[in-house]
Amino acid sequence: MHVYLETERLVLRRFTRDDVDLAAALDADPAVMRFTNGGRPTPRDEIRDSYLPAWMAYDETGDGFGFWAAIDKGSGAFIGWFHLRPQEGDAADTPELGYRVVASAWGRGYATEGSVALIPKAFQELGACRVYATTMVVNVASWRVMQKAGLRFARVFHQPWPDRIEGEEHGDVEYGLTRAEWDAQQP
Ligand SMILES: CC(C)(COP(=O)(O)OP(=O)(O)OC[C@H]1O[C@@H](n2cnc3c(N)ncnc32)[C@H](O)[C@@H]1OP(=O)(O)O)[C@@H](O)C(=O)NCCC(=O)NCCS
Repeated sequence: MHVYLETERLVLRRFTRDDVDLAAALDADPAVMRFTNGGRPTPRDEIRDSYLPAWMAYDETGDGFGFWAAIDKGSGAFIGWFHLRPQEGDAADTPELGYRVVASAWGRGYATEGSVALIPKAFQELGACRVYATTMVVNVASWRVMQKAGLRFARVFHQPWPDRIEGEEHGDVEYGLTRAEWDAQQP
């Protein structure tokens, strides 16, 4: 297993083709997909043929960014995924942080733990000049994670969503941290 990052309770490892059922089960839960598309499961074929190949393709670029499966070290259970990669259209040194956790593991600090490990890696090893994350204003758990991971409020903005999602009228929120802000925090 190629370990990308290890935290107190988690291993972040590369995705493989064999992860299709884990990723599909995560996206099959309407509670998990609520703020992504209104609660619609991602079809397994789409995960196998589109999502997983795209996630795995990041590993070939060698820039250190990408998507990772998060595994609980104690139980070996798949608890979800993290991404840290420039969004399409973003500069190569401005990665976006994201996470999706199985509902049975919510509220135990896993999303925060992974984020707290990925952000320093972005600045110290991957040459990021800014790390940011966005979510819907109504997705409180998600922006709480951003706050707890040390990202700072940047803006509320409005963007068109392909799906009707409850609360979308409140818009989206962006949190971020620049390299200068990161450097200023270091002892
Ligand atoms: C967002 C998500 C990743 C959080 O994962 P998690 O492992 O439960 O997060 P953590 O336990 O590290 O932290 C969650 C925080 O939000 C808080 N929280 C959760 N639901 C909340 C709510 N409805 N209102 C207020 N706070 C809430 C928790 O209490 C916790 O904060 P605290 O430690 O100050 O008490 C998880 O809910 C998830 O996967 N959701 C579905 C996918 C998703 O929305 N991803 C983000 C898309 S941008």
